[in-house]
Amino acid sequence: MQNFYYNIPTKIYFGKGQIEQLGKNLKAITDHVLLAYGGGSIKKNGLYDKVIEQLKNAGIQWEELSGIEPNPRIESVRKGVEICKKHGIGAVLAVGGGSTIDCAKIIASGTCYDGDPWDQVIDNSKITKALPVVSVLTLAATGSEMDGFAVISDLTKNEKWGTGNDITKPVFSILDPEYTFTVSARQTAAGTADIMSHTFENYFTTEKGAYLQARFCESILKTCIHYAPIAIQTPDNYEARANLMWASSMAINGICSYGENTAWAVHPMEHELSAFYDITHGVGLAILTPFWMEYVLNEDTVWRFVEYGKNVWGILEGSDMEIAKEAIAKTKAFFASIGLPSSLHEIGIDETHFDVMAQKAADGGLKYGFIPLNKEDVKKIFQMAL
Ligand code: NZQ
Ligand code: ZN
Repeated sequence: MQNFYYNIPTKIYFGKGQIEQLGKNLKAITDHVLLAYGGGSIKKNGLYDKVIEQLKNAGIQWEELSGIEPNPRIESVRKGVEICKKHGIGAVLAVGGGSTIDCAKIIASGTCYDGDPWDQVIDNSKITKALPVVSVLTLAATGSEMDGFAVISDLTKNEKWGTGNDITKPVFSILDPEYTFTVSARQTAAGTADIMSHTFENYFTTEKGAYLQARFCESILKTCIHYAPIAIQTPDNYEARANLMWASSMAINGICSYGENTAWAVHPMEHELSAFYDITHGVGLAILTPFWMEYVLNEDTVWRFVEYGKNVWGILEGSDMEIAKEAIAKTKAFFASIGLPSSLHEIGIDETHFDVMAQKAADGGLKYGFIPLNKEDVKKIFQMAL
C-alpha cells in the first residue's frame, strides 16, 4: 500500500428528514446563498418547497440559478458566477444530481477568480479559492456530493473535462434516499453504472498491496448488483435507494483509492462520447466498460479479474482466464439486465469522430492506467463497442 493523505472533510447528513439540518447549518456559513438546480425535477417532487422553507425559517436570503443541464455547460457556470459576484453571495447551494453539484462547484471557484471560469476547467491549479458549496443530493451516481471533482462541458467546442480539487469539496451534503424515489428507471440504471465504473477505476490498479481497498470496492460492486434491480422494480424501496446512495458517495470519496496508483481509463473515453454526442454519462460507461475489460485482460492483469470473478460474482470453477472472461460476460449481462444499451450504434454513435475522440482521451492521461493505452488502443476499444 502506498503513502496517502486522508482528507474527506464533507459532513454528511444521511437519512429521512435530514433536510431539517439545512437551514441552521447553512446559516452558520452565510445569510445569502445561490440556490442552483436543474430542469425542474425538484419542483415536481416537492423538494424545492422544502428547501425554500428551510431558507426562510433560517432567515437566509437567496438568488436562483435554474435549468442546469445534464452534462452541465460552461454557459451555466458563467451565469452563476455573474449572479454570485453581483449579489455578494456567501455560498452555493446545489439541489440535484451530479450535474447541478458540479456546476455549483465551479460557480463557487469562478466567483473567486478574475478570469473566465473555463480556465479553471482546463487547469485545476487555477482553483485556489472558492465559496463554500453545500449540496442536497437527488440522484445516486457521481459521488459529487462527497468529492472535489466537477465535470463541465463546452459543447460548442466538443470539450468535456474534469476539474476540481480539495477546495471544491462540499462543506456538507444532505443525503435523503427518499428524494431519489422519483428517479426514472433509466437514470437509476445509468447512475448505478457510474457508481460501478468509479469503483472499477479504483479497483483495476497495479497496486497489489491495497487489500482492504479492494475489498471495499467489491462490497460496493455487490451492493450495486444487488440493489439496482430492486430500485428499478420498486422505485420507493428505501433500503435499495439508501444503499445505492451511500455506495455513490463511497465509490469516489477516496476510501477506495487511497494508497493506490489509480489513473482512470474508461472515464476519459466516455467523456469524449458525451462531449461529441451529449449522451448520459452512465450509459456511455456501461457500453465501454466490458470492452475495455476485454481489451486489457492478459496474463499480467488476470489476477485482478480473478478476484473480481470470485469475490463479486462467485465464479469459483475454471482456469484463471475462464473465470476472468466469465466475470466480464456477467458484467455486460448485468448492465443489459437493468436496461442499459450494450453498443454504441444503439445510441446513434458511429465512427465519424473516433479519431479525434481517441486522441483527446489518450491525451487525458491514459498512458498511466492499469494498462497504458494510446490513441490506437482507444480507437480499437471504440470499434469493439460499435
Ligand atoms: O435537471 P433535473 O430536472 O433535476 O433532472 C435530472 C436530469 O434530467 C434528473 N434527476 C435528478 N434527480 C432526480 C431526477 N429526476 C427525477 N427525480 C430526481 N430525484 O436526472 C437527470 C440527470 O441528472 P444529472 O445530474 O445530469 O445526473 P448525474 O448525477 O448522473 O450527473 C452526471 C454528470 O456528472 C458528471 C458526469 O460526467 C455528468 O456530467 N460526473 C461527475 C463526477 C464528479 N463530480 O465526481 C464524476 C463522474 O464520473 C461524472 O463524470
Ligand atoms: Zn462517472
